[in-house]
Amino acid sequence: MAGRVRQMMHAHWRPGGHTVPNATVYPWQWLWDSCFHAVVWAALGEPDRALVELRSALADQDELGFVPHIRYPPGGSRPHAALWGRESSSSITQPPMYGHAVAELARRGVDVPPDVVDRAVAGVRFLLDHRARDGDGLVTVVHPWETGCDDSPRWDHWCGDGGWGRRRWYDVKGAVLATVERSACGSPLANPAFPVAPAGFNALVAFNAAELGLRSDADELAAALDRRWDDQLNTWVDGDHRSGRIRTADALLPALVSPRRRSAAFDQLEDDAAFGGRFGPPCVHRGEPSFDPRSYWRGPVWPQLTYLLAVAGAPVADRLVAGAVTSGLAEYWHPDTGEGLGAAPQSWTGLAVVVGHAGAGVA
Ligand code: GLC
Repeated sequence: MAGRVRQMMHAHWRPGGHTVPNATVYPWQWLWDSCFHAVVWAALGEPDRALVELRSALADQDELGFVPHIRYPPGGSRPHAALWGRESSSSITQPPMYGHAVAELARRGVDVPPDVVDRAVAGVRFLLDHRARDGDGLVTVVHPWETGCDDSPRWDHWCGDGGWGRRRWYDVKGAVLATVERSACGSPLANPAFPVAPAGFNALVAFNAAELGLRSDADELAAALDRRWDDQLNTWVDGDHRSGRIRTADALLPALVSPRRRSAAFDQLEDDAAFGGRFGPPCVHRGEPSFDPRSYWRGPVWPQLTYLLAVAGAPVADRLVAGAVTSGLAEYWHPDTGEGLGAAPQSWTGLAVVVGHAGAGVA
């Protein structure tokens, strides 16, 4: 598998210094993808590529520390300039996985230059210090895309009484972008029309803060997340909007920073009526009416979430490897058959090599 991942990563490498997620479907640079790619490059024994990719992912950081979630490299197409209100990047962010990338590279013996560490710290500090918090002290997102979990049923509430439909959700996402409040230099600070502080996103802010040594900030967020555990549902919940209580795999990520509920969360990964799956945890609990194992973000296994659950200590590394191999390194796959879904091959599925080295012994 390591050979197939290496071949894919080289084929997806672009001269500007980043790996595209997929050459056809995702031809630009995405922030959390690139952070995962840096970890994959390091696991493949190519630390120079890892550092170049991490640095390029952070290159468009603004003066407040905000890092855009898509970069459109010079010379390429820029079809979304009107949507974002800027040419070369998007105007919202994604989970700050650069903290983990910095720490993981260092753990693998890579000498991460101080300017890259400084940018990573500034990126997490932007979310901690400038991003609006909710009433419980959790960090809000300004748009569902910031979570990386684009069509998750967690956001169905915002589709209104008609419920979720792909077309309706597309329109809602456009409308929500228009109400983002920004600093003088354009950094996204708050969105009164989407006042959501997701459990999964906050877990990743806290985890990345901890990875960068921002211990007290991480502990403070972890304590706020602890207050969001729901004993009946066996999950962390977002807040009081209806769909923020839907059981999704990303909502189990507080296990990264909060050991107290870890076993209650992870027991469900062994339960075939919950988050169990031969090829990894479905991204939506099987008991949810919205669960659909083949539909984008509404039930398949996502490799980056499975990797993060493995990092949190869940025994899912073998399932990630099995899914990556069976799906042909697909973007996401069916939890029971491993059938590849979405784009293929997809660079972040190379994370199977990372856990393969550490746990499954496949690579
Ligand atoms: C999709 C995913 C997002 C990811 C991007 C590139 O938009 O929802 O999380 O970053 O694809 O892989």
